[in-house]
Formats: sequence, C-alpha cells, structure tokens
Amino acid sequence: MHDFQPYPMELLEFNPFTKIGKEWAAIVTEVDGKANAMTASWGSVGVLWGKNIATIFVRESRYTKELLDKSDTFSVCFFEDDKMHSTLNYLGKVSGRNEDKLAGARLHINHSDGVPFLDEAKFVLTCKKLSTTLIKTEDFNDPSLKDQFYQDNDLHTMYVGEILQVYAR
Ligand SMILES: Cc1cc2nc3c(=O)[nH]c(=O)nc-3n(C[C@H](O)[C@H](O)[C@H](O)COP(=O)(O)O)c2cc1C
Repeated sequence: MHDFQPYPMELLEFNPFTKIGKEWAAIVTEVDGKANAMTASWGSVGVLWGKNIATIFVRESRYTKELLDKSDTFSVCFFEDDKMHSTLNYLGKVSGRNEDKLAGARLHINHSDGVPFLDEAKFVLTCKKLSTTLIKTEDFNDPSLKDQFYQDNDLHTMYVGEILQVYAR
C-alpha cells in the first residue's frame, strides 16, 4: 500500500473544472467488504452547512448508487498519471454489477478510518454522506435539460458528502 499524507485544506490548489470535468475522478464505495469504483466527470466541491463538502451526481442505473445508498461514506479519487485515463474509461463503461472492476483494472483498495479509496490515486477526498437527493425533472428551470439528459428517465441522485480528509501521496 502507498503512503498517503493528510493534506491541509487551506493549501489546496484545486481547479474543479479541470480536475473533475476534464481529468475525471473515481467514486469509490464499499459494502460488506465488496468495493467498487465508478468514473465521474460531474461533481463539485465547496462549502455547505458550515462544512467543506464534495457533491457527486449518480444515475439510478449505476451499481455505485446501490452501494452508496447502503453506506455512510465514499471517496472521490483523482489521478495524475495519463495512463489512468484508459482505466477511468473502463471504470466508466463496465458495471461492477457484472464484473469485479477493481480486479479487472488491477486496482487496490486502501482505507482511511474505514473509508475506502483507491491506492493507485494521487489525491483523495474521503467523505461522509450528509444528504441524498433525487434530482427531479419537474424542478428544472431550464426544461431543455430533460430532453438533453433524461430521455430514458435515468435520473441523477445528488449526494452531498462532508470532506473528512484530503490525502495526497
Ligand atoms: C468520463 C466519464 C464520466 C462519467 N461521469 C458520470 C457521472 O458523473 N455520473 C454518473 O452517474 N455516471 C457517470 N459516468 C458513467 C459511469 O461511470 C458508468 O455508467 C459506470 O459503468 C457505472 O459503474 P457502476 O455500475 O459499477 O457503478 C461517466 C462515465 C465516463 C466514461
């Protein structure tokens, strides 16, 4: 296992538009010792309820949603290595419902205070679930979003997680 150090939040230079939107992240969940990772390019970090938070958006159809709904924690893992792009493509195409993606991608699970994360990551946000909200299309102010993203009714659930720790290696 790699040696991860806690990284002070105040020193963080983190551009969410490139880190999440362009370089992508892996959301890691674990239930009863069975872990899974899913690629995400939608998400945010910020402040809510007086806490530092990360927000992730997960569609109904994802195995990750099933695991998230059964667990109190998750992690958002980032990589610096370009080679990880093909791995993230794989984690973003195949479902953990159908195969053990961690074994398939030769990835390993590490833990911090019981929160699972990928040992191959360079930078990790460990999170405690604070809220779970289904995003309903009737709430959209811009109705074009429904046609653009939800023709199949595979809705997103928004999970707000308190960032417990930032780790870097
Ligand atoms: C670049 C990329 C970004 C993605 N971002 C998201 C996302 O933010 N939310 C989501 O629900 N699915 C997203 N996906 C799709 C899931 O990663 C994909 O459906 C995955 O196979 C789900 O895995 P699971 O069933 O093991 O949870 C993305 C896929 C890729 C390739």
